Amino acid sequence: MSKKLYIETYGCQMNFSDSEIVGSILSQNDCILEEDINSADIILINTCSIRENAEKRVFNRLRNLKHLKKNNPLLIIGVIGCMAERLKEDLLKKEPAVDLIVGPDAYRDLPKLLNDVNLGGKAVQTLLSEDETYDDILPVRIDSNGVSAFISIMRGCQNFCAYCVVPYTRGKERSRDPQTIVNEAKTLVENGFKEVTLLGQNVNSYFWKENGETVNFSKLMSMVAEISPLLRVRFATSHPKDLSNELIQTIAKYSNICKSIHLPMQAGSNSVLKKMNRKYTREWYLERVNAIKAAIPDCGLSTDIIAGFCGETEEDHKETLSLMKEVGYDSAFMFKYSERPGTTAARNYENDVPEDVKGRRLEEIIALQGELSLESNKKDIGNTFEILVEGQSKRSKKQLFGRNSQNKVIIFTATDEKIGDYVNVTVLDCTAATLRGDRVKEI
Ligand code: SAH
Ligand code: SF4
Ligand code: F3S
Repeated sequence: MSKKLYIETYGCQMNFSDSEIVGSILSQNDCILEEDINSADIILINTCSIRENAEKRVFNRLRNLKHLKKNNPLLIIGVIGCMAERLKEDLLKKEPAVDLIVGPDAYRDLPKLLNDVNLGGKAVQTLLSEDETYDDILPVRIDSNGVSAFISIMRGCQNFCAYCVVPYTRGKERSRDPQTIVNEAKTLVENGFKEVTLLGQNVNSYFWKENGETVNFSKLMSMVAEISPLLRVRFATSHPKDLSNELIQTIAKYSNICKSIHLPMQAGSNSVLKKMNRKYTREWYLERVNAIKAAIPDCGLSTDIIAGFCGETEEDHKETLSLMKEVGYDSAFMFKYSERPGTTAARNYENDVPEDVKGRRLEEIIALQGELSLESNKKDIGNTFEILVEGQSKRSKKQLFGRNSQNKVIIFTATDEKIGDYVNVTVLDCTAATLRGDRVKEI
């Protein structure tokens, strides 16, 4: 009889995309996806190690799942993803209810490993690979709205930013065969999807070479954009050091490539950037932003910021605030620095910014971003945008929401529109988080 598989995912989009790969591998091996955790025969928790809190959440979750084994002694609980890779067997010591530990490059072995667990005992497989891209696996879509999907185009990262655990949990950077990416996007279009986001930790270093022909990220973006003018194309994440003029031109050229760039700055001070091993300066970053603004004046810009990295002074922090203002981001993900074992920063630098100072700096960053987001949203009032309807608003079924090309969420009152429609909406008012508008039938 088929086993019921429940997958729960934490962390970044790449993890969500991996869960869909895992779902696909196991669906072909006598498992069926189950939405109710209480009825599952196998529970897989796909985990994230990026900050200490991310790991704490998973440990809490595992503790809460233990009792399910009392009702169902044959239940298998597996930990997959970045925590599995980072902690390996140690996870079994920390949480004995776990039966299975599988790292991000070993998902093809899951059927065999599950079998090992069924025969009694525990299974651990955390070898990283230099070439695994799961390129032949068509992911099953989990929790899909049927409109937007993510396509993983590369795996791993070898930038070794001093604070970051990803190069250790995900291994070397490798790109996926472009033809398999285009085929996956085409299949999505055939199934009614309207938007794809090309995913990688550093998408603009995507590179493929075969039979003397090369495909870089710009070329890949155009190949995907040319599948259909009705398919929107997005990407995440780009590293500022590799943001080429060619890519900016490609984004500008195709109307179906969304005018939105997530460009993590992390910090505004050159000494902090250097210590972080980000390989760019404040000036270089600003020059790239200006190049984007010159070529794509309406481009949405978002970022990631870390508050309180090792050695960060009050002056450094002020430089982060001033860079935020200079760029004028539409939105940002903002974090307190969290030391990760094994990283360059953990080995070489003192985590010397006191917790309360980190907290206060983060609050200042969040407050400033609130102002910048509101300012940016206010500028949209009176303008009309084409949005792709993605779902119902939480507050009312009559309200639908979608995103514009700049990646801003716009809510409007529905009449006959449905999820997956392109709709023109004129913005009437806003908060720092969302825009609200009215549908216009003709523009
Ligand atoms: N590959 C992307 C982002 C990966 S992780 C990039 O290079 O930009 C997402 C974000 O988490 C990072 O941009 C960074 O802002 C944050 N982050 C990573 N490690 C962190 C740490 N140790 N403490 C706090 N934030 C961290
Ligand atoms: Fe981490 Fe830096 Fe790689 Fe991003 S580019 S995943 S921050 S090491
Ligand atoms: Fe987390 Fe791993 Fe992604 S550490 S952010 S799940 S690559």
